Amino acid sequence: MVNRWRDGRRLLGGDARLSITYITLRLPSPLTPAYNPPFLDLSSTEGPVKRIKAIYPGSFDPPTNGHLDLIERGSKIFDELVVAILRNPEKDPLFSVADRRKMLEAMTSGLDNVSVDTFDGLTVDYALRVEARAILRGIRAISDYEYELQMALMNRKLQPGLETVFMMPAEKYSYLSSRLVREVAQLGGSIECLVPDLVEQKVREKIDVAHKFTNREQSAGKTPSEGKSKSRKKKL
Ligand code: PNS
Repeated sequence: MVNRWRDGRRLLGGDARLSITYITLRLPSPLTPAYNPPFLDLSSTEGPVKRIKAIYPGSFDPPTNGHLDLIERGSKIFDELVVAILRNPEKDPLFSVADRRKMLEAMTSGLDNVSVDTFDGLTVDYALRVEARAILRGIRAISDYEYELQMALMNRKLQPGLETVFMMPAEKYSYLSSRLVREVAQLGGSIECLVPDLVEQKVREKIDVAHKFTNREQSAGKTPSEGKSKSRKKKL
């Protein structure tokens, strides 16, 4: 194939490559989104030192020692880390978002560059709002990997400039999850060493209240659901 300029002059090999490069770079393509907010450009700097803010999103119901371990690790590599609690109306959580926030604030009070916030909607939209450049997530075992990879790639599709950074918690927390903590505590097992003392205390209080409520309803000959609707009516 002979490449020519518009006026018909023949191009040399080097020129041909240049013209191809020119076309490749300039042609608008649906695969290269034109919009890339400057604050998500990892090459940009603020002053002489690059400052990187990350968010650590999650449910944290309740926050565990595994979460704390990851927050401590994250706080060492990011300049700023925001622990972001998802306000998820579809879930039936053990703790309210306000309670989880208080627990996380107490747990991270000694870490100057860590703050706690809440959000709803898409994680990437929240990250954009707070001008974060990275999402921190923990991977405990291979079983986490598939779900985390899927989420990271979806987040990248939604917001290509935002990076997901995976960190591993200490091995001793590799089996630990909020779901298991809730289950063990609800069935009367010890959650010592799995959550910070203040969280253990709060979980116990929550579960004691729930047990008392259930026992009262059962001794009154009601099913838990009857008890619930009655107590709701009372409140109204
Ligand atoms: O602690 P969790 O429950 O594993 O955290 C999951 C979380 C909150 C990070 C994830 O569910 C999330 O990002 N939810 C917000 C909605 C969203 O952005 N969904 C698309 C994810 S690809």
